[in-house]
Amino acid sequence: MNDVSPYAEVQTLADVLQLATADRERVDRLIRRRLASDVVLVNQIGRHIIGGGGKRLRPLLHLLCARAAGYRGHDHIQLAAVIEFIHTATLLHDDVVDESGRRRGKETAHQIWGNAASVLVGDFLYSRSFQMMVEIDRLDVMRILADTTNTIAEGEVLQLMQMGNADLNVADYFRVISDKTACLFAASARLGGVLADLEAADCEQLADFGLLLGQAFQIADDVLDYRANDHELGKNIGDDLAEGKVTLPLILALERAEPVDRQHLREIIVSGGSRKMDQVQRILDETRALDTALTQAKDLAAAAAQKLLILPPTTERSAMEVLARYAVDRSL
Ligand code: IPE
Ligand code: IPE
Ligand code: MG
Ligand code: MG
Repeated sequence: MNDVSPYAEVQTLADVLQLATADRERVDRLIRRRLASDVVLVNQIGRHIIGGGGKRLRPLLHLLCARAAGYRGHDHIQLAAVIEFIHTATLLHDDVVDESGRRRGKETAHQIWGNAASVLVGDFLYSRSFQMMVEIDRLDVMRILADTTNTIAEGEVLQLMQMGNADLNVADYFRVISDKTACLFAASARLGGVLADLEAADCEQLADFGLLLGQAFQIADDVLDYRANDHELGKNIGDDLAEGKVTLPLILALERAEPVDRQHLREIIVSGGSRKMDQVQRILDETRALDTALTQAKDLAAAAAQKLLILPPTTERSAMEVLARYAVDRSL
C-alpha cells in the first residue's frame, strides 16, 4: 500500500484532518444546526451523542472522496452530515440492542434516558437525515442511501439472529459486517463519485474501496473489543463476548484451539457471559487469533487502497490511503 501514491505530504491522520479542515468545520456547523428540535429531549440526547464527539470517519471519507473525484460544489457538506446522522442513529439503536454501557467516552443515552427515548431519538436522526437527503434532490443519491439504511437494518437483525451461535462461519461473519458497517462506508465513498458525476464503473470501484475499508474497520473494532484500553476506546471492552456475539477473533480461535479448549469456548459463547474473559483471552493468545484477524484487516485495507487507482493522483487520494491504513492501526 505504501507505494500507491506519489504524494508524501499526507502521512498521518493529523495531516488528513488538517487537509479537510475547512470542509469538516462546515459539516460540523451544519450538524449542529440540523440537530435542533423544539422537543427538549431530542436536543438533549442529540447533543449528548453528537456533542460527545466520535471520529467522524465516514463523513471525512465522503468529503475526501468527493474532492478526489473532482467535485467542486457544496452538496458533499450536506451529504457528509446526512451520513453522520445515519451513523449516529444506528449507534443509538445499537447500544440499546447490545445493552452497552459506554459510548464516545460517556455513559450511553439509554442508561441515562432509557431505551424508549434512545430508540425514538435514533428515529429522529434517521428521519432528519431523510429530510436532508431529499433537499439534495437527486434520485440516484436517495436510492443509494435508502438501500444503505435498509441493508444496515438487515445486518443488525442478521447479527441478532446469530447471537450465541458458535457455528458461525467466516462467510456468515462477513455478511454481517458488510451489511451492518461496511455498506455505509461504501455509500460514503460511492456518493463522492456520484456527486462528481463519475462513470458508473468508477463509482463502483469507489464503493468497493469503502466496502473493503469498512470490513477492515469492523474487524479492527472486533479485535479492539478484546484488546483495547477501554478508557481510550470510549466504550467498554468485552461487550461482544458478554452478549455472545461471535466475531472473527472467536471464529479463528474456535478453528485453531485444541478440542478441550474448543469445547470450552463453545460453551462460553452459547451461555454468553464475560465472567470467563480470562480463559477466552488465554485461548485467543494461544491461537494467535487476534493477530491473525488484524493481519486479515490489513490485507483488506491494502486491497481497498488499490481501488483508488482509478482516481487521478491527488493529495485527497493520498489522504484516503492514509485513512485506509488508519482504519486498522487505530487504538480508538
Ligand atoms: C462504531 O463506529 C461502530 C462500528 C462500526 C464499530 P465508530 O468507531 O466510527 O464510532 P464513532 O463515530 O467514532 O464514535
Ligand atoms: C456496530 O457494531 C454497527 C452499527 C452501529 C450498525 P458493533 O456493535 O460491533 O459496534 P460497537 O462496538 O457497539 O461500536
Ligand atoms: Mg454495539
Ligand atoms: Mg464492537
